[in-house]
Amino acid sequence: MVLQRSKYKGTLDKAKGVLRENTYTVKIKGKTYRRIIPSRSFYVHQWNWDSAIHAMATVFFDENLAFDEIRSLISGQWTNGMIPHIVFNPEEKLYFPDPEFWGTDKFAFSSGITQPPVLAIAILHVYKKAKNRRKAKEFLLEVLPKLLKYHNYLKKYRDPEGSGLLTLVHPWESGTDNSPRFDAYLSKINIKEIPSDVIQTVRKYRTDIKVGVKETRPRDEDYLRYIYLIDLYKKWGWDYKTIVKRSPFAIKDVFFSSIWAASNMALSQLIELSDSKSKASYFKNLAAQSKRAISESFNIKEPTIALFAPIFAGVESENKLDTIAKILITPKKFWSKFPVPSVSLDSLDFDSTRYWRGPSWPIINMFLIDGLSSKPTIRKNLLEKTMTLIKKNGFFECYDPKTGSPAGFPNFSWTAAIFIYLYYKYYL
Ligand code: DGY
Repeated sequence: MVLQRSKYKGTLDKAKGVLRENTYTVKIKGKTYRRIIPSRSFYVHQWNWDSAIHAMATVFFDENLAFDEIRSLISGQWTNGMIPHIVFNPEEKLYFPDPEFWGTDKFAFSSGITQPPVLAIAILHVYKKAKNRRKAKEFLLEVLPKLLKYHNYLKKYRDPEGSGLLTLVHPWESGTDNSPRFDAYLSKINIKEIPSDVIQTVRKYRTDIKVGVKETRPRDEDYLRYIYLIDLYKKWGWDYKTIVKRSPFAIKDVFFSSIWAASNMALSQLIELSDSKSKASYFKNLAAQSKRAISESFNIKEPTIALFAPIFAGVESENKLDTIAKILITPKKFWSKFPVPSVSLDSLDFDSTRYWRGPSWPIINMFLIDGLSSKPTIRKNLLEKTMTLIKKNGFFECYDPKTGSPAGFPNFSWTAAIFIYLYYKYYL
């Protein structure tokens, strides 16, 4: 596939500008790191899967920043191995829930949950693309033990049953916070049972709807439950055995598990590249187990982007891929003018601007593009549509899939990062 870079050069420069503007120097435990925040308007700390994606872009033009970003994320690792979804910046006060609310200070200056484990994929990509091979090797040897610890945490606490599917204990862990696929489970938490101090705290401190457009953010009823879960886990001392066993929201998620499958494949390659004593085959087997589980639980009626889990996971079955690809390019479902909507257009839950209930997100397009090697025409179309969408509308968090108009926060780092990554990977 030969695609011409030249028409995107101007946007590429702007994308790099967004990342530079959102780069902060932060001091953690006496060490200084450069890292990129998702958006100055609201997400002013470091987010786990955002950072993994940022590094996949910065390695193309500032590889030291890519190393730094990943080191900074890993600096938030808990002793149980979890790499949290937010690593806080002590200087920032805008974001709620803040570090005090999480009550995690004895573990790290971080949130208490995780996010889709894109990290191994990012480390493999950064390792392969970095031009300074000596530094790349040093980096790999430094981060690999921590990455292994993270994957061992996910296996031990989130899939002790060996099902291949990981348990999430908070919708935020999925990265697709208010996806309708969580509605039925969240609704089991009765709002009337949420302690009044939690409700009052949300009413007083919820910032996202003050600095952003309320109608594009998760609904009040969802947000109260998000914060309630954090309060509950804090009361349980962030003991993960208790949390996974007793949480009113503990669910197996195919989307998260599909990233887990792809990441285990990446980790097994990293082990082979580093001559580490760890067994690459162990992580390959975990990936195979997840792919099997995803294939078995695959449902063509799923109306959200979780439908595409087999593509993200790298499931090989041509039959399955054909079926899913057909749904992807159905105009009434996921092939809107500006795809890929996070919820099928014909679903009753579809809402074109409300966060993960309809808008198109570049991250999903990127995973699809990377996963669609056996469908080159669809891949090419989606790639061009993604690049044009960003070029025309700017670097926003997400977009209305029917009109392409921006939704969510502006000057959004991972949108810029994805533009850069796709540019260097697919265009000449
Ligand atoms: C939010 O929207 O505040 C969540 O932290 C997402 O991670």
